[in-house]
Amino acid sequence: MNKELRKVIIAGNWKMNKTRAEAKVLIEELKPVSANADCEVVIAVPFTNLETAVNLTAGTNIKVGAQNCHFEKSGAFTGEVSADMLAELGVEYVIIGHSERRQYFGETDETVNKRTKAALEAGLKVIICVGEMLEEREKGITEEIVGIQTKIALLGITAEQIKNVIIAYEPVWAIGTGKTATAEQANEVCSYIRGVVEKLYSKEVADALTIQYGGSMNAANAAELLAQPDVDGGLIGGASLKANDFGVILAEASK
Ligand code: 13P
Repeated sequence: MNKELRKVIIAGNWKMNKTRAEAKVLIEELKPVSANADCEVVIAVPFTNLETAVNLTAGTNIKVGAQNCHFEKSGAFTGEVSADMLAELGVEYVIIGHSERRQYFGETDETVNKRTKAALEAGLKVIICVGEMLEEREKGITEEIVGIQTKIALLGITAEQIKNVIIAYEPVWAIGTGKTATAEQANEVCSYIRGVVEKLYSKEVADALTIQYGGSMNAANAAELLAQPDVDGGLIGGASLKANDFGVILAEASK
């Protein structure tokens, strides 16, 4: 097994939750439960909390991420935030192509690829989200969907750049629904993604790639999911807003 070749990363995706005052409280609660984690710890907070999060986590093992960025460097894109703007604040990670952005904000595989390139050029680490909808799983085309999403997202990204890429497999039907993929389903698709990356790059690149699972991961099911050979961490929504639950997931990932 090649799991020891990869970094385990647990990232909290706060989504559109927490005012600045609330974020301060949660970050203070997260510090003690994260301090002994033997894995990478990331919190992806709303844009308005980035600077607060960077300041409050300075000197701790918690890294800060954003939840999106635009693909142009600057210009007439009202309401958007560039990758350089994030990097300047001390943000290290950015989530790209989350299914909520694909569903509600017109994100496509092509814009995921453009945003990923812009973020990598700005020196950010990118968590690219892929995952099938329920109908797609029921039609038996999960691998085709996830394969195409992965291939287009990575178009033009070099083997050197991919060292700063993480892929999160998030089946859309498991997000925020309390329905988790079974550990076997999660591992099967994470393993498939690794195979796609091996064909595009090399075994060495694929073996070193962190592939997370996301979708109703919580304190109760994290151990089983994280024990799978191709699941190298988690992208956690709801449970990342509860410090104790996030702490349990970090402890499981550190075993
Ligand atoms: P939940 O953990 O709330 O299902 O959300 C998962 C997710 O979308 C993380 O990006």
